[in-house]
Amino acid sequence: MAGVKNNKMEQKRLIIGMSGASGAPLALACLRELQHHREFETHLIISNGARLTIEQETKLPFAEFTHLADFYHEIQSVGDGPASGTFSTCGMLIVPCSMKTATGIRNGFSDNLLLRAADVTVKEKRTLVLAVRETPLSPIHLSNLLELSRLQNVWIIPPMLTYYNQASSIEEMTRQAAGKLLSRFGIQLEGYQEWNGIK
Ligand SMILES: Cc1cc2nc3c(=O)[nH]c(=O)nc-3n(C[C@H](O)[C@H](O)[C@H](O)COP(=O)(O)O)c2cc1C
Repeated sequence: MAGVKNNKMEQKRLIIGMSGASGAPLALACLRELQHHREFETHLIISNGARLTIEQETKLPFAEFTHLADFYHEIQSVGDGPASGTFSTCGMLIVPCSMKTATGIRNGFSDNLLLRAADVTVKEKRTLVLAVRETPLSPIHLSNLLELSRLQNVWIIPPMLTYYNQASSIEEMTRQAAGKLLSRFGIQLEGYQEWNGIK
C-alpha cells in the first residue's frame, strides 16, 4: 500500500475499483482529480482484466497506476479493509465496470476484493457508482443492469459522449465523463460543465 496524501484533516474513504472494460483513461482522469481533493482518502483495487486495458489504453506503467491512490489493494487480498462493512467509507466508484464485474455484483459473487468491496457497499447501502461500458448490450447485460439499478444507492452511469460542452479533444471529453461520475460523491471536477439551459 502506498500513501501520497499526508495531512491531519478528517478524510472520507472512497474506494475506486477498476475492472477490465475499455476506459482505463477515464479511471486515470478520476484518480488524478481525486489527488486534488484532500478530503478523500482513496483506496484503489484493480482487477486482472483492468491490467490488460491499462496496458492497451494508457501510456502509464501498471506500477505507476497503483501510486495514483492513497492506498492500493491487491485484487486477491480479500482480507483487506474494503472487504468489511466495519471499514467505513462514503462509497465506491467502479470505473470502468465490465459486464463480468456487473454480473458478479448483481449475484453477490465476491471471489475477489473488488467484487467483495462492491458487495459490502451494497449491503451497507452506501453509494455505488458503476461506469459500465459495453456495446451492444445483450439482454443478459441489460437484465443485470436493471436489477442493479433497483438497489438502494446504486447508480448505473455509462460514460456517454456529451456534446453540449463542445469538447475539443478526447481528453476534454474524458474529463467531462469523469466529472459526471465524481459528482455523485459531491466532487466538483475542475472544468466539468453542467447543463445550464439553452442560451
Ligand atoms: C482491450 C480490452 C477491452 C475490453 N473491453 C471490454 C468492455 O468494454 N466491456 C466489457 O464488459 N468487457 C471488456 N473486455 C473483456 C473483459 O476484460 C473480460 O471479460 C474480463 O474477464 C473482465 O474481468 P474483470 O471484470 O474481473 O476485470 C475487454 C477486454 C480487453 C482485453
